[in-house]
Amino acid sequence: MFLKKLTIILTVFMVFLGSAAEAKAGSVRSKELKIAEKCVSCHEKESPGIVNDWKSSQHARGRVTCYDCHKAEKTDIDVQQHEGALISVIVSPRDCSRCHSKEVREFNESHHSKATTFLSGKTPEGRIMDNVLGYEVQGKESAIVGCEKCHGSKIELGKNGTLTAETWPNQGIGRINPDGSAGSCTACHSRHKFSIAEARKPETCGTCHIGPDHPHIEIYMESKHGVIYANEKETWNWDIAGSNWDTQYYRAPTCATCHMSGIGNVESTHNVSSRLSWKLASPRSEPRKNWREKRETMQKVCRNCHSTNWVKGFYQQGDNAIKLYNEKFYDPIKALMDGLYLDGLLTEKKFDEELEFKFFEYWHHEGRRARAGVFMMGADYAQWHGFYELARNKLEIERLIKEKREGKH
Ligand code: HEC
Ligand code: HEC
Ligand code: HEC
Ligand code: HEC
Ligand code: HEC
Ligand code: HEC
Ligand code: HEC
Ligand code: HEC
Repeated sequence: MFLKKLTIILTVFMVFLGSAAEAKAGSVRSKELKIAEKCVSCHEKESPGIVNDWKSSQHARGRVTCYDCHKAEKTDIDVQQHEGALISVIVSPRDCSRCHSKEVREFNESHHSKATTFLSGKTPEGRIMDNVLGYEVQGKESAIVGCEKCHGSKIELGKNGTLTAETWPNQGIGRINPDGSAGSCTACHSRHKFSIAEARKPETCGTCHIGPDHPHIEIYMESKHGVIYANEKETWNWDIAGSNWDTQYYRAPTCATCHMSGIGNVESTHNVSSRLSWKLASPRSEPRKNWREKRETMQKVCRNCHSTNWVKGFYQQGDNAIKLYNEKFYDPIKALMDGLYLDGLLTEKKFDEELEFKFFEYWHHEGRRARAGVFMMGADYAQWHGFYELARNKLEIERLIKEKREGKH
């Protein structure tokens, strides 16, 4: 912890001083601070909300200024001439990495940073389905205000480095920035407070992890963990720096505790994929690469508050339910659907027939709800919004397929 703090302080120091002679660097720094004072004094009138947030942030306390983040080089693709200074509006993960390289490296290894790969279309089946739905069946305008708000847009530039209205504003988790970097740190640390406390609260994740197809926040709120959070959150300390935030400061885990935070002997990470063993969101759930190691890390988190037996039993029940979903619900219906395509009874075009919507919702809505409910302690989602709906809709899809084969529609 101490070492990490020291690295940040040193990095900031180096950013401030550069490698040139100290005196010269000092004068560069004082010039930058002068520019930054202007940003503050004008924006205090133009956009006081922004300046207030910055003033209450760790950044202001650490003398990290507007200009430190928004400063741009002449050669930057999104550079703008602004009140006598060169700036860019977007402050990308690459910009943050000057001072926070560990967080950015880990974020880059996560699925969060890859959340816009579906934009290219060249991806596995589940992705193609969503993509066709968003951009073709519904239409691009809907994808811009829907899919891309959570997943991210590919930011495009108009004249003079301005950002086009089609792609901006956007704070999607995997946004492709003009400098080629992926992601948007403000998805969890809203500007200009950039607070660690905000990122640890489940509601923050719930801006995207919500709704009929991935109701993680709803599941959490009905879980015992979520109920304890709701009852006691005001008495917990949310501001403790990264790896020191531990069970003495809270009694139940939030999304961040299980998926990201340091706890006990588990290191904190910005790679939300690193503690997961199953692919729960896919049409059919398969184990991930190196799943044992990843599972072990998650289980270490649990063991700060639960016994080994409790955790083992929980995972055993979970694995059994995922296998049930795969083998009893997904595989047979998938085989019947494949048969219809093979026999030319369904066109290759997606979402031009009612059955395709039904099958999509079957795995994408009910199937995901069941699987997420199982692994995040939401019995109501596992049961009534999950397996019950699967059982009922399986019958209906089988009937529709039979009627299709009989030429009834
Ligand atoms: C003399 C006043 C003034 C100064 C000095 C100033 N700004 Fe601004 N800034 C503005 C105004 C006015 C806007 C536009 C607000 C609007 O469009 O409603 C703006 C807009 C911006 C934007 C958004 C641009 C966009 O396209 O969305 C950023 C980012 C910004 N300023 C950052 C800075 C930074 C960093 C500094 C210091 C280097 C700075 N400003 C200095 C007045 C100023
Ligand atoms: C720690 C880095 C950081 C600092 C310090 C910082 N900004 Fe920003 N600023 C950002 C980020 C990130 C965004 C959001 C853009 C994005 O999504 O990449 C942003 C966006 C903005 C915008 C456009 C927002 C809008 O709603 O139109 C303005 C204007 C702005 N900043 C001005 C300022 C001013 C003025 C200061 C100093 C008081 C400042 N910034 C300090 C990182 C920073
Ligand atoms: C010029 C260096 C610098 C840049 C650039 C920078 N930061 Fe920071 N950041 C700091 C310093 C210094 C601290 C305070 C560290 C501490 O006290 O341990 C900090 C703290 C933080 C914290 C912890 C806040 C808390 O509540 O404890 C977050 C989150 C954060 N920064 C996010 C960002 C993001 C996101 C960006 C890019 C948009 C960014 N920073 C850009 C230097 C920087
Ligand atoms: C409210 C935010 C939100 C919206 C809107 C949204 N998604 Fe998602 N999407 C998510 C989240 C969160 C996940 C992760 C689900 C999980 O892991 O259980 C996800 C998962 C996915 C996946 C699966 C990724 C994988 O690794 O298997 C694809 C593909 C996808 N979304 C595409 C889309 C498309 C296309 C749209 C628009 C038609 C869309 N999404 C709309 C938040 C959203
Ligand atoms: C701005 C939207 C957004 C926010 C905020 C967000 N996520 Fe996500 N998350 C997504 C999307 C989109 C995906 C699916 C990415 C993909 O695979 O395409 C995802 C995927 C995930 C995954 C699965 C990763 C994998 O490897 O399959 C986990 C775990 C996760 N998020 C946890 C969190 C946590 C914890 C928080 C809050 C601290 C959070 N997310 C905040 C949008 C978001
Ligand atoms: C999915 C949500 C999410 C996103 C996106 C995110 N963070 Fe964080 N961040 C968190 C959480 C949660 C914590 C607290 C971790 C903990 O409890 O150990 C945190 C903590 C931090 C800290 C403080 C670390 C410390 O040791 O005190 C910094 C700095 C930071 N984030 C920077 C960034 C940067 C830079 C980005 C963009 C690459 C980013 N974050 C994107 C959720 C997020
Ligand atoms: C008690 C710990 C815990 C809490 C709290 C928790 N999760 Fe999870 N989460 C898990 C476990 C365990 C899994 C399944 C891990 C595996 O596959 O091995 C999981 C799976 C996921 C997945 C599925 C990724 C995939 O495979 O598609 C997402 C997304 C996710 N969680 C997001 C969240 C969000 C958002 C919250 C808060 C609203 C949250 N989690 C709260 C433990 C937790
Ligand atoms: C910070 C401590 C903490 C962590 C970490 C934690 N839990 Fe819990 N958990 C609790 C507490 C407290 C309860 C409530 C116990 C009770 O019912 O008396 C609980 C309850 C549960 C329950 C009971 C749910 C019910 O509906 O009865 C399960 C199952 C569970 N946890 C599993 C896990 C798993 C699996 C993990 C890791 C992925 C985990 N927990 C991580 C503190 C924690």
